[in-house]
Amino acid sequence: MKGVILAGGLGSRLHPLTKITNKHLLPIYDRPMIYYPLATLVNAGIDDILLVTGGNNAGDFLKLLGNGKEFGLRHLNYTYQEGEGGIAEALGLCEYFADREPIVVILGDNIIGGSIKPAVVDFQEQGGGAKILLKEVEDPWRFGVAELSGERVVNIVEKPKDPTSNLIVTGIYLYDHQVFDFIKTLEPSKRGELEITDVNNMYIRQDRMTYEVLDGWWTDAGTFESLFRANSLAAGHKI
Ligand code: DAU
Repeated sequence: MKGVILAGGLGSRLHPLTKITNKHLLPIYDRPMIYYPLATLVNAGIDDILLVTGGNNAGDFLKLLGNGKEFGLRHLNYTYQEGEGGIAEALGLCEYFADREPIVVILGDNIIGGSIKPAVVDFQEQGGGAKILLKEVEDPWRFGVAELSGERVVNIVEKPKDPTSNLIVTGIYLYDHQVFDFIKTLEPSKRGELEITDVNNMYIRQDRMTYEVLDGWWTDAGTFESLFRANSLAAGHKI
């Protein structure tokens, strides 16, 4: 199984921190943000990894990570996203790399305390389709919110004003190669992006989506509050 880290976008919610560098190079406690999703993939046994980035500082990732030697890798793949057309647009750039194999995707600002290895193993046994990892949070309106019915996820609503639950979709997704067919049919959302939530809902409509609730802590780091929270959690102080 191959791995993809999506670290594009302009990080405008973190201005002026992101005026002269990429959001995913900002520090989280004692290391750059990008180290965390990379370690999450490597610790799950994924060693064929593509990093998608963009903006003016894309070259800094190469300087920082090289071929991933520090993570025990022999090689790292890179690609470049022009602008910030959305998570699904960034993922669409990975079709050639994926080469019809299943992929595990992690957003570059998603930081976890546990392991995704059990989910990766379960997905490999699932035989196709997709899997999302869910987590309970206190501010679900900032995320894609999952609606469950029994053991099934039946809908995801992106950033709802009135969330129906606290269970949100984290930025960790497992897909078969059909994901690239779905992405090609997407239209930009109201915020002008190709939405990963639309892709996930396509799998749900086809009854090919499973979910797991992620063990351990999880946070994003794309706002000042969540960036602070990520630092604190990574340092071992739970807030
Ligand atoms: O963190 C989980 C959430 O991520 C999900 O619950 C939401 O359903 C999903 O839409 C996403 O929400 P955000 O609005 O918080 O995503 P954001 O625009 O902050 O982008 C998150 C990461 O995705 C970012 O750190 C890098 C990558 N990305 C984003 C965009 C817009 C790209 O690689 N390219 C892009 O164009």
